[in-house]
Amino acid sequence: MDASGWDERYRAAWEHGGIWATEPPHFIRESVGSLTPGTALDVATGDGRTAVWLRQRGWSTTGVDFSHAGLELARARSGGDGVDWVEADIRTWVPPQQYDLVVVGYLHLVDSDSVLRRIAGWVAPGGRVVVVGHDVENIAAGGHGPSDPGLLYTPESLRAAVEPVLTVMRCERLRRGSDDGEIRHTADREAADAGDAVDAVLIAVRDRGL
Ligand SMILES: C[S@@+](CC[C@H](N)C(=O)[O-])C[C@H]1O[C@@H](n2cnc3c(N)ncnc32)[C@H](O)[C@@H]1O
Repeated sequence: MDASGWDERYRAAWEHGGIWATEPPHFIRESVGSLTPGTALDVATGDGRTAVWLRQRGWSTTGVDFSHAGLELARARSGGDGVDWVEADIRTWVPPQQYDLVVVGYLHLVDSDSVLRRIAGWVAPGGRVVVVGHDVENIAAGGHGPSDPGLLYTPESLRAAVEPVLTVMRCERLRRGSDDGEIRHTADREAADAGDAVDAVLIAVRDRGL
């Protein structure tokens, strides 16, 4: 979907305050909650749930997305509490720095592998990337999300995209229940209630010497 398609979805969700849940995806909360705050980048931040959560926990946070309407919701949600919001296409954006933490939640592109390879280069020495996205098995499981397998991940595709730049710490397929509170916009919630969701997840770190 292009930026105008996402704008339309976010505008339709304005009265609900956003499409996605108010909290970040469970895997991101679980993987990041105990880390010492530093600089963080939320790739494809959408309506900003993860970026705002990181900021509230002391991270100096940048959220990047190509949807103007998504970022308007994110700004409204953050109440001006210091997230740096950047409107840009992730396929061509060049970040001004590397980050101690890079998070990627449910970014599904035809060229995800090459985009993730670029993103791996944005992790600072000693830093990490945390990725969660729908797995190809999500289609058969009936979970909410894209039905084109070319847009979806597998643990193997995630691993291959970031190695050898990063060292993989965790990489697996995770199943979560349909009613896990991930989505709040009514129309999307009905779709989400259809079945369990299957995610592919990754945590990878950059050695300090690289
Ligand atoms: C499923 S939403 C996930 C939003 C957010 N990460 C979350 O978990 O709440 C996918 C997001 O990716 C953004 N996106 C898709 N392609 C993009 C691109 N090429 N550059 C920047 N953002 C993109 C969309 O605008 C949308 O906000």
